[in-house]
Order: sequence, then structure tokens, then C-alpha cells
Amino acid sequence: MSRAPAPEGEQELAATGGVPRHVAIIMDGNGRWAQKRGLPRVAGHKAGAEALRRVMQAAADRGVEVLTIYAFSSENWRRSAEEISDLTGLMRFYLDRELASLDREGVKLRLIGDYSAFGPELVTRLERAVEHTKDNSRLTLVVALNYGSRAELVAAAKALAGKAAEGTLDPQQIDEAGFAAELQTHGLPELDLLIRTSGEMRLSNFLLWQAAYAELIFLDKLWPDFSERDFAEAIGRFAARERRFGGR
Ligand code: FPP
Repeated sequence: MSRAPAPEGEQELAATGGVPRHVAIIMDGNGRWAQKRGLPRVAGHKAGAEALRRVMQAAADRGVEVLTIYAFSSENWRRSAEEISDLTGLMRFYLDRELASLDREGVKLRLIGDYSAFGPELVTRLERAVEHTKDNSRLTLVVALNYGSRAELVAAAKALAGKAAEGTLDPQQIDEAGFAAELQTHGLPELDLLIRTSGEMRLSNFLLWQAAYAELIFLDKLWPDFSERDFAEAIGRFAARERRFGGR
């Protein structure tokens, strides 16, 4: 597994443990990016997908273990039928075009959210991609599809309540680790850093439990303009805060 040399000044940070293990991104601003150029919204999503490809590479090169992206929220169904179809079309296109290169790069794909809503054909493709990449270990790409954090929390509470009702779990024994084990992100490292582009300062129902201790970075840039350099800077800011505040 090759690791690109860290840009000057960053070796020291990585050596002191400054690289976040788990980074999440709310990739916001595709529509505005397109609008500013007089282009249809789908052009923004295409440019957004290219930005994602660059950032994935940068994350893997820097030794980030998990990158979780908000690709489609449960609120996104409110968009026009045309835009939804453009977004799912893009997913299909990238799954077909990028699977081999994801695999070559050592990327393991994992899904969170109720992606069954995308229909059997896309579900089959998604699950095939997960199966195909399951033995990779360089970077885990967690794609949130039809994801909503509150729904995830409710499902976890239901699962625990079900176990309690059937007598296999003593409610007094429920603790944070036991709760986290029922979330769709079970088994992943703690979220260290959450980045949102486009100037909005909200979590928008994304990883509410998981973000409890994460550093939050909000950037004014629109997602398609987000570069490797922006990613490196975000990691640098995370590392600097880690050094200032010490342990959690
Ligand atoms: C937010 O921009 C972005 C999304 C709703 C979707 C993210 C999708 C991609 C980056 C493209 C492809 C993804 C995959 C997994 C192939 P927005 O449309 O909300 O922007 P706006 O707030 O400016 O309207």
C-alpha cells in the first residue's frame, strides 16, 4: 500500500497522532455551484462527485481509515423527481465506472441508511459493490444513502427494547457501548472530524450520536470547489486542536 509523502510540515503532525481516524463530510453546495455558472443542478452533482474522488484519494494517502459521506439524506426525497433521478443515475454511473478503481485503491465500501428505498436494481448494484470490496482495508468509504440520524437512533432504541421485551437484555445493563453497537456505524472508529461545506452551520440529521466528540469544521466553499488542499488544511486544523486540548 503506497502512501504519498505528506506535504511539508505535516509529517510531524502525523507522527504525533494528528491524523483523524474517521472523517465525515456533508458535501453541500452542488446546486449553488451549478447555479452560479448558469448550469443545471446535475452539473453541480457531477462536479461534486469529482470532488469526492479527489478527497477520497487524499484521505487514503494521509492515512485516514474511514471517510463517511452524506450522499443522500432522508430529506432529499423532497427534491424534484428529475433531480432525484439525476442523483441516482450518477450513483449508478459511478458504481459501474469506479468500482474497479475503488477496489484497486484498497477502498472498502459500506452503506448506512435505508437504501432499500432506491429500488431492487440499485440495491443489487450497491450490495454487489459492498461484497466485491469487503476484503479491502486501506480506506473504508461509508456512504450514507437515505440516511437520517434520528431514524437510526429510533431503530437502535427499538432493537434494544425488543431484546428487553423478549427477556434477552436487562434494561439496567444498557450502556453507551451497547447502544452504539446497535447503530449502523457499529464497529467503526469514533468520529474525529466532521466537515461541512457551503457555509451552512448545521448537522442536518447526520451522525448526531457519532459527532458527540468530533471536531466540527464549517467551510464557506461550495463542495465542488473543495480541493485536496482544503482537506489537508482541515486535517491540519484538527491536528492543531488535538495538540492544544490533549485527550478527550
Ligand atoms: C448537496 O448539494 C449535495 C447532495 C444532496 C448530494 C451529494 C452528491 C454528490 C456529491 C454527487 C454524487 C455522489 C455519489 C455517491 C456518486 P445541494 O444540492 O444541496 O446544494 P445546494 O445546497 O447548493 O442546493
